[in-house]
Amino acid sequence: MELDHLGSWCRTKKCGDLRAGDIGTEQILMGWVNTRRDHGGVIFCDLRDYTGISQVVFGSQHDVQAFEKADKVRSEYVLAVQGTVAQRDPETINPKMVTGEVELHVKEIKILNACSLLPFQLSEEQQEVGEKTRLQFRTLDLRKPAMQQILMMRSHAAHTVRSFFIDHGFFEVETPVLTKSTPEGARDFLVPSRVNPGKFFALPQSPQLFKQMLMVSGYDRYFQIVKCFRDEDLRGNRQPEFTQIDIELSFTSQEEILDLMERMIADLFKKTIGTEVHLPIQRITYQEAVDTFGSDAPDLRFGLPLVNLSDIAGSCSFQVFANAIKNGGTVKAIMVPGGAAFSRKELDDLTDFVKIYRAKGMAYVKMKEEGWQSPIAKFFTDEEKEEINKRTGANVGDLLLFGADETKIVHDSLGNLRKEIARKTGLIDDNDYRFVWVTDFPLFEYDTEEKRYTSSHHPFTMPDEHDLDEWEKSDPSKIKSVAFDLVLNGVELGGGSIRIHRKDIQERVFRLLELTEEETEQKFGFFLKALEQGAPPHGGLAFGFDRIMMFLAKTNSIRDVIAFPKTQQASCLLTDAPSLVDKNQLKELNIATRKTVS
Ligand code: AMO
Ligand code: AMP
Repeated sequence: MELDHLGSWCRTKKCGDLRAGDIGTEQILMGWVNTRRDHGGVIFCDLRDYTGISQVVFGSQHDVQAFEKADKVRSEYVLAVQGTVAQRDPETINPKMVTGEVELHVKEIKILNACSLLPFQLSEEQQEVGEKTRLQFRTLDLRKPAMQQILMMRSHAAHTVRSFFIDHGFFEVETPVLTKSTPEGARDFLVPSRVNPGKFFALPQSPQLFKQMLMVSGYDRYFQIVKCFRDEDLRGNRQPEFTQIDIELSFTSQEEILDLMERMIADLFKKTIGTEVHLPIQRITYQEAVDTFGSDAPDLRFGLPLVNLSDIAGSCSFQVFANAIKNGGTVKAIMVPGGAAFSRKELDDLTDFVKIYRAKGMAYVKMKEEGWQSPIAKFFTDEEKEEINKRTGANVGDLLLFGADETKIVHDSLGNLRKEIARKTGLIDDNDYRFVWVTDFPLFEYDTEEKRYTSSHHPFTMPDEHDLDEWEKSDPSKIKSVAFDLVLNGVELGGGSIRIHRKDIQERVFRLLELTEEETEQKFGFFLKALEQGAPPHGGLAFGFDRIMMFLAKTNSIRDVIAFPKTQQASCLLTDAPSLVDKNQLKELNIATRKTVS
């Protein structure tokens, strides 16, 4: 088929812009064929661009040549059409479309391009097309109005964030992508340097050290919407390459940061989806979050708190409970209102569920008129039962679910169990946005595999100085830090801290992390020098922009808010990256691999 040239034609309207007020005018529209309906003497096309759809009509009464040419048109062909805007026949008016009152009677058509590869119809629902196909044909997938809406909203969101920060005296500074490792708990992506044989750059896991050095340089308030790279196992809302809204301030406090950031978030939610975020955002400490919800990223849209029963359990005659306490563990319970109606099968399924989190079992009690109905009822005295009922608030018709294990296992299993039950029993309102700041994180976590302490956030977090003096030698896990996370509906949106701005404290923290002096010098020597050059007190945080976008776009897949995402296997199906490289390229880089193409 012969294709037409655009020639001197200029588009006069977008497809979503035709209105009754345009009736009688001549217009030129350009776009893609959404649908084509042949009604014998007349052909109707819905022509689509990013603004919407207009109906264009080819009929011999408007123009014979155009009508005949329209016969060749198929879905997703690219057209330019010129004609007169007309009122639609009353029976064809479509009140659901903003352009539904009018149509374009075409006098001339140019077929600008065909579409020979169409593995799925763009009108099909996302879920009907497998994600693999969608990612392989991302160009077409992104042409879908639903995807266009999301990416346009992302652009609007980025603009809103930039405006907020610029209006509040922040500077956007770009930091390098070819750099040295910045530890954020993941593996680095390495880039070989041809000019420096055998040496590698690391892609930044975050701009952490550069933004701190910008504070030393006196920039006072920095922000950046920035790509970060982490070679880590890709769970649900993670990508190897993702975007942070990164922020740092000098001469600041936790109070100032939290206040400013929640106003930024409220502004963003209001301007993108019209949702009012009520300020100030609730705060809870890390300890409270873990004790009550079993997680440092609690979902507060529903209750189902974990109730501590360790004291009663320690002296009861049920050996599983008593032993858990004897071994230094914890016993906690969740009270499920109305849960006594759960079937045997449902309880078995929940028991299997907690086992994913290494729980050894899940004892339960159904609250009946006649008292506890449970395989473990016989182990408890009436007084113990009464105290457990009182503490958990259990009444007739309710259900108690128990966890007795190492404290971490109890928190992980019951923390996830409460979310599972809330999902199953419809306790979650999808339109509810429950933000919470989690504060007072411990400085370190003990890594049982590596048998050493690692940073809860990162090694540049300011310890509580009093704790540092007191616990440095005896129990580093007790050192608290000035670190905080923003959590929305159980998802960590962002995190930050007040930073260490003194070399002596930074060195003490590196020592606690068991870094040798050589390692410290080799990895962070440049940074320690910067701290000696008049570093002001400073702090900041970073939000995961993709995660925020998932909430704004109301999608469960991080891949829906990124134009060209990677799969869970960290590959790009569109470009087939990563791929093998040419032998010569490797030779130039002084690299030998086990697998190459010639
Ligand atoms: P952190 O490592 O907590 O902090 O990262 C900040 C936020 O970035 C998002 N995020 C991710 N999003 C998608 N895919 C990933 N792989 C991924 N990893 C992290 C999360 C997270 O809350 N430099 C510090 C911040 C600071 O202290 O200023 C940092 O990077 O939403
Ligand atoms: P058993 O004595 O092993 O038959 O267990 C009696 C009940 O206690 C069963 O409902 C088990 O699921 C439960 N159970 C066993 N181990 C644990 C545990 N570590 N925490 C909570 N419940 C448990």
